[in-house]
Amino acid sequence: MTDRVAGKIAIVTGASRGVGLADAKLLSREGATVIMTDINAEPGRQAALEIGGNARFVSQDVSDEAGWQALIAMVEKEYGRLDILVNNAAILQLADIKAETLEGWRRVQAVNSDGIFLAIKYALPLMERSGGGSIVNMSSSSALCGMPAIPAYSAAKAAVRGLTQSVAVYCHKAGNKVRCNTIHPDGIATPMMMEIADKGLVVNGDKAEQAASYVCMPEDVANTVLFLVSDESCHINGAAICLDNSATITPPYL
Ligand SMILES: NC(=O)c1ccc[n+]([C@@H]2O[C@H](COP(=O)([O-])OP(=O)(O)OC[C@H]3O[C@@H](n4cnc5c(N)ncnc54)[C@H](O)[C@@H]3O)[C@@H](O)[C@H]2O)c1
Repeated sequence: MTDRVAGKIAIVTGASRGVGLADAKLLSREGATVIMTDINAEPGRQAALEIGGNARFVSQDVSDEAGWQALIAMVEKEYGRLDILVNNAAILQLADIKAETLEGWRRVQAVNSDGIFLAIKYALPLMERSGGGSIVNMSSSSALCGMPAIPAYSAAKAAVRGLTQSVAVYCHKAGNKVRCNTIHPDGIATPMMMEIADKGLVVNGDKAEQAASYVCMPEDVANTVLFLVSDESCHINGAAICLDNSATITPPYL
């Protein structure tokens, strides 16, 4: 442990499994108090117990506005501050533009896009009162290039990118010492990826074996999150960090 986020108070959403769980473990190991949230409560509670004293689990649906208000009020009351917000929770469903329904589209926007809007809307004032902070929003390579199997998901992830830029510039102009950045992985070896791989998703028009070369581990994402929420990245605000081994800039004929 090198205490890269020692003493900081962090919220990580979608922390019951996958990347969110890896984020929570690493931030906790590096000295932060981590409030882990998820709709999937039992594994989240168990994971927080295993992580130990500086982690706790709170059941939360990120698309619920009242839930965000209650969570931020609780954090302020019990910890007095908020330094780190990792907006990680998301859902993914396979449906191309003809197959997608309005209901399905809205469900994805509600969790993946509205959820991050609500998080920042209610967390930012507390971060400002805390003297600054770092917000990391999980986007995706699908925000940066076309993925025909997941239009609702990629639209939501592009909205997250646009929101992030606006918040970053807002914070810069406000001089509130809050930073806001996005991470854009291509594939990550998590339950989400395995579920769609099982359904035979072809990533970026490539065969599954080729796509495997873009896939990173949840811990690789967590290391990037740690850097972005630590003071080491104090001048990085509004950035889009691609974790894709060049996938989003590889011409299709190569
Ligand atoms: N896995 C990939 O290949 C990949 C690629 C690019 C980006 N991402 C992004 O990385 C992040 C983490 O993905 P993952 O692969 O770990 O996913 P995952 O499905 O393994 O984990 C997501 C977690 O979010 C929780 N969640 C879902 N809906 C929620 C809600 N309404 N409120 C609160 N929690 C909710 C789930 O219960 C789950 O624990 C997501 O934002 C995802 O879009 C993943």
